[in-house]
Amino acid sequence: MLGRLISYAIGGVFVLTLLVAAFAPREAVVEDPNHALHKYPMKISWAQDGVFGTFDRAQLQRGFQVYKEVCAACHGLERIAFRNLVDIGFSEPEVKAIAKAYEVASIDDKTGEASTRPAVASDYFPSPYPNEVAARAANNNALPPDLSLITKARQGGKDYLHSLLVGYGQPPAGHEVPEGLYYNPYFANINIAMPPPLASAGQVTYAEGQPEPTIDQMSRDVSAFLDWAAEPKAETRKRTGVAVMIFLLILTGLSYLAYRRVWAELKSRGAH
Ligand code: HEC
Repeated sequence: MLGRLISYAIGGVFVLTLLVAAFAPREAVVEDPNHALHKYPMKISWAQDGVFGTFDRAQLQRGFQVYKEVCAACHGLERIAFRNLVDIGFSEPEVKAIAKAYEVASIDDKTGEASTRPAVASDYFPSPYPNEVAARAANNNALPPDLSLITKARQGGKDYLHSLLVGYGQPPAGHEVPEGLYYNPYFANINIAMPPPLASAGQVTYAEGQPEPTIDQMSRDVSAFLDWAAEPKAETRKRTGVAVMIFLLILTGLSYLAYRRVWAELKSRGAH
């Protein structure tokens, strides 16, 4: 008897709690005022999309140029070695020349003191700052993330990257942008510490025969390049995947034929 009463009491409390939760006024929820301003990344079509898509090598090279001449001042690319650039169509002498323009940490072989030397093809892209404290000190206390895996690390990947780079603008009336930050509705926090890196057309000079370096074009190019950097083996992976699917299809066909053959005799025997 007592047991049953206790279970009714527990059930009653449970139901009451649900009712309160369902009908309680919603004012208790604090709305983030920035939420309404936030925009989802634009949908962009890319050469590398889809099962059969391949990177546009010329675009990747232009994107690398944008990274090198603009973004590398603040962002590292620590998972990419200079020799990886062969994959996007640079020749070995070109890669050597690119590497040589960078200084990497080294040790003086006579005194043993820390020093630097020009990079070689097997070196990785050096970070623009010696450490996080220096990086923050130079950027209003914000940390420019390493860009090696950025398209994997953000929802929307390369679409987000492009949207972010072209998405700076004037804040709507009533939205205060804190000192030292910039309005960008694609950034999760709406106010970003990165000044618009691609601010004017022609900021980077493309080689003869390449498209005009508009802000939109430079942004697409560097986003495509960083998408490649996040997974340099993406094409090989896709190609292997397609080959495996074709192999499995053929194997399925062959197994079916073998099955028919093995059972044909037994089936005809059964019929007698
Ligand atoms: C003057 C330095 C500077 C330059 C140049 C620069 N950035 Fe940044 N970047 C920053 C800082 C600082 C942040 C961190 C922003 C924050 O957390 O508010 C950042 C953040 C980012 C982010 C991360 C955004 C996120 O979702 O967290 C991406 C992606 C990015 N930058 C891409 C680029 C690209 C691509 C270029 C070149 C076209 C570039 N940046 C050039 C300073 C720079």
